[in-house]
Amino acid sequence: MLQKEGYHVAAVYHAGDESARMLHEQSGIRIFKWNVADFDACKRGVAAVESELGPVDILVNNAGITRDTPLHRMTSEQWTDVLATNLGSLFNMCRPVIEGMRARKFGRIVNIGSVNGQRGQYGQTNYAASKAGVIGFTKALALESARFGITVNCVAPGYCHTDMVAAVRDDVMASILATIPVGRLGEPEDVARIVAFLAQDSAGFITGATFSANGGQYMA
Ligand SMILES: NC(=O)c1ccc[n+]([C@@H]2O[C@H](COP(=O)([O-])OP(=O)(O)OC[C@H]3O[C@@H](n4cnc5c(N)ncnc54)[C@H](OP(=O)(O)O)[C@@H]3O)[C@@H](O)[C@H]2O)c1
Repeated sequence: MLQKEGYHVAAVYHAGDESARMLHEQSGIRIFKWNVADFDACKRGVAAVESELGPVDILVNNAGITRDTPLHRMTSEQWTDVLATNLGSLFNMCRPVIEGMRARKFGRIVNIGSVNGQRGQYGQTNYAASKAGVIGFTKALALESARFGITVNCVAPGYCHTDMVAAVRDDVMASILATIPVGRLGEPEDVARIVAFLAQDSAGFITGATFSANGGQYMA
């Protein structure tokens, strides 16, 4: 959607080589591979993007993983992996771009949260904590950045039709669907539309906000 709006887009992935290749073939979008949970990899990656495409004016922190299990069975690794990927990545990616945005007096940062960070979810102490953290990070960086023309916002999707949700068991999915008032899962476009809106130059008065896109499942 950002590409359709005319932006030069770079996309980052970690493991899905085949999906990345297909996205590049279909869209021409420049694809980069690194682990957003690794600060040094992010520093190197951002430098590579900037040398090819120019300064990063818009950053969308979208990478996220789940390692669901109740806390009494959760391993330290399941906790750490989710926190490092979903929340650590915000520091790792914002830190290398924020000084340039401040110097240029413009920036748009959109962090992808989750309805389950707003309301909690059984089996997701790790994920819910990481996504609640995304909202706090968003508000704090919004305060620090406002006078530099940089906005920082969060989009909190509900259950959407992606690979992440394809992993949910059919019976669990049926019970989730019954709790979504609009009666369907979200589509990636339902989220991308808000991101594209927030990325616009004209969206400069909107910062520190969390936008829910969850089909009415939870009204924060
Ligand atoms: N789908 C939903 O219902 C839903 C609901 C609420 C919030 N969200 C949030 O929306 C965002 C997108 O989720 P999705 O449903 O599109 O998930 P997805 O289909 O599993 O895609 C996740 C993406 O993040 C990338 N990624 C994961 N770990 C990474 C890492 N360490 N470094 C770099 N890239 C990494 C993945 O790349 P590889 O495939 O290459 O690993 C993949 O492109 C996530 O933040 C998720 O928490 C999703």
